[in-house]
Amino acid sequence: MIAYFNNDFLDKDLVRISPDDRGFLLADGLYEVLRSYGGKLFRAADHIARLNYGARHLRLPQGDFSYLVPVAEELLRRNGLADAEATVYFQITRGAAKRSHAFPAPQPPLTVYGQANPFDEQAMLRRLETGVAAITLPDQRWARCDMKTVGLTANVLANQAAHEAGAAEAILVRDGVLIEGTHSNFMAVFGGTLVTAPTSNYILAGITRKAVLELCARHGLPVELRPIFASEFHLAEEAMIVGTTVEVTPVLTVDGRPVGNGRPGPLARRLQALFAAEVGRPWPLG
Ligand code: PDD
Repeated sequence: MIAYFNNDFLDKDLVRISPDDRGFLLADGLYEVLRSYGGKLFRAADHIARLNYGARHLRLPQGDFSYLVPVAEELLRRNGLADAEATVYFQITRGAAKRSHAFPAPQPPLTVYGQANPFDEQAMLRRLETGVAAITLPDQRWARCDMKTVGLTANVLANQAAHEAGAAEAILVRDGVLIEGTHSNFMAVFGGTLVTAPTSNYILAGITRKAVLELCARHGLPVELRPIFASEFHLAEEAMIVGTTVEVTPVLTVDGRPVGNGRPGPLARRLQALFAAEVGRPWPLG
C-alpha cells in the first residue's frame, strides 16, 4: 500500500512515526474519514472545512488543509482505487517533541498521514437493506465532540460494548438525550418528522447528517433540529444512524426493544433512495 506521509508518497511499511509524536503520546491530533464512490470523493470540501475548524480549535499552527483533496485523489490512484469503492483516512498531529502537556516550543512540523483503503460496500448495502440493532450507553466522552480528535477511548469502549451485545452501534446518552453514535449521528422520526440533535460541542457535525438534512430540505421532507429525549424514544416511528461508513442505516431495535414496527421505515427508505441518487448508485438494489 502506498501511503502519504509529510509531503511524500511512500510504501506504508516505510512510514516512520516517532514515538515522541504527540498523536501517539497525547492523542493531540485530528482525523478525517472520506468516502470515495467509484473514485469520486463525497463532499471533500465539507471534510476539509471540518478539519480546518478542528485545526483552529486545536490551535494547530496551520489553518488550511485543502491541499489534502488532491492528495486523497493521488492516494486512490496510486493504490488502484481510482474506480473503486474506497475510504481515505487522514490524521494530523501537533508533531513530535519531548513530552509536555503544553504546546512544544518551537513548534515542530505537523505530522500529516494519509491512506486509502478498499471499502466493503456489499456488507454496508446488506445493513442498509436489513437494518441493525443499537444499544444505549451513557456518553462518557468529553465536552468537545465537535472536534474530530483521535482521542476516541470512550467511543472505542462503547462500540465494543455494542458489538459484545450483538449490536452495530451504541447511541450515547447525555443528560437524558440520545446524542449520537460512537461513529455516526443519530436520527429518529416522530409524527413523520425527522428529528436530530442540533450541532453543538456535544456532537460531531457529520457530513452525512448535513447531506441528509439538505436532501430533506430539497425534497420537502419535514425536519426538526432538537434533542431526542430517552423518555420520548418509545414514541419514535423510526430511527437511523447516518455517517460516512453507514450512510443511512435503519436502526430496528434499541436495547432490544423494537423501534416502531421493528422494520426499516418509509422515511429511512426514502432517504436511502435520495442518498443513492446523490452518490450515483442505482436504487433499489437488485
Ligand atoms: N466517524 N459522530 C461521530 C462521533 C463520528 O465519529 C462520525 C464519523 C460521525 C458521522 O460523521 P460523517 O458523516 O462526517 O462521517 C458522527 C468516522 C466515519 C469514523 O470515526 O470512522
